[in-house]
Amino acid sequence: MTKIYTHLNEILTLKDACTKDGRRLKASDCSIVKDGAVAFDDEKILWVGETSSLPSEYKNIKSINLKGHVLTPELVDSHTHVVFAGDRAQEYADRLSGTSYEEIAKRGGGILYTVGQTQSTSSEELFNIACKRIERIYSLGIGTIEVKSGYGLDFDKEFQISLVIDRLKQKYSPKIRIFNTYLAAHDVPKSFSSSSDYLKQVVLPLLKKLAPLEIIDAVDIFHEKNYFSAEDVEQLFTEAQTLGIARKIHADELNNNGGAEIAAKFSALSADHLLKISDSGILTLAHSSTVATLLPGTAFFLGKPLAPARNLLDQGAKVAIGSDFNPGSCHCDNVLMVASISAAQLKLNQAELWCAITLNAAHALGLISQGAIMPGMQPRFTLFKAESVSHITYNWGKNLATELL
Ligand code: NIG
Ligand code: FE
Repeated sequence: MTKIYTHLNEILTLKDACTKDGRRLKASDCSIVKDGAVAFDDEKILWVGETSSLPSEYKNIKSINLKGHVLTPELVDSHTHVVFAGDRAQEYADRLSGTSYEEIAKRGGGILYTVGQTQSTSSEELFNIACKRIERIYSLGIGTIEVKSGYGLDFDKEFQISLVIDRLKQKYSPKIRIFNTYLAAHDVPKSFSSSSDYLKQVVLPLLKKLAPLEIIDAVDIFHEKNYFSAEDVEQLFTEAQTLGIARKIHADELNNNGGAEIAAKFSALSADHLLKISDSGILTLAHSSTVATLLPGTAFFLGKPLAPARNLLDQGAKVAIGSDFNPGSCHCDNVLMVASISAAQLKLNQAELWCAITLNAAHALGLISQGAIMPGMQPRFTLFKAESVSHITYNWGKNLATELL
């Protein structure tokens, strides 16, 4: 059925940004249409332009007048860890007193603490907790959400968590699009002597079990000193490639580990974090299809300097921003707020800011038919009650998103 919205104060189409593959953007690449209209059906966008130019074939169809609103491509959070039990508020308080993330992990806190809480929580309860989180994220206007496993860390629990994410996907589809990422390689349980033992005994065999079920959209791994080595990443990515599953990586976060280079070598969808990426890593990403996903909320939460966004952008990398919503390093689920707050620090222009949470974030999930409001693209939008595009990020922290009609 054809639907028509008219008289939108502004439509952020990102047409020019899309033509430029989300790279080397000028502010004008936002391609904003004022007093805009859009015609679309269930599958795709049919027409977009000024309301006064609406083609006659659409004039007999009842339209919805959205004066006072702004339409943007749907917000995408391409990096979350939504499925976990418990919280780590005390660790946050301890960090404010000067204890580092790494020290907390060494004394039994960190990811492994959440793993304990998650393992003693039933699948049903984890599903219910995650539903509440997904619904809240959706209420912020974020309609495509990547969800990682990774707080089970044994064969059975990681299997259950991948199934929980698939249940979320089925429950909310097509209104909310969930992307299921397999992150069993998130940390090494104490019962294994090395990361490679855990990889061989749990991560790879479970991946082989999950692959034929066709519920996993990508694999991910925490490539970091004291977590998983470059050899571990190579093994996991080689197996994923063989099975035809996409690759993502937590890269160069606490140290420069050459993670960006490995990501590009395996044509990963994205390399995420990148606080410590090297100059050669920046160049490698800039010349690859791999999206550089920045997670500034995590740097804020950990009190670390932000990733070298300007350098990545100037070299021509495709940059996205994710929330990294998780119980430890960033307990914030609002990717729009994270992007709005960090834009000035990262020195992003308006097109770079919006692309980072729409077009480029969709590309970080391999979704190339959404992220711009152009004929032929999927009709995935976010509607805001706002005067203009600028008012949305200017009011950071205020939820202006409103249900699509
Ligand atoms: O992306 N780096 C690894 N994973 C998460 C942290 C998870 C946690 O602390 O529980 C991240 O920051
Ligand atoms: Fe993460």
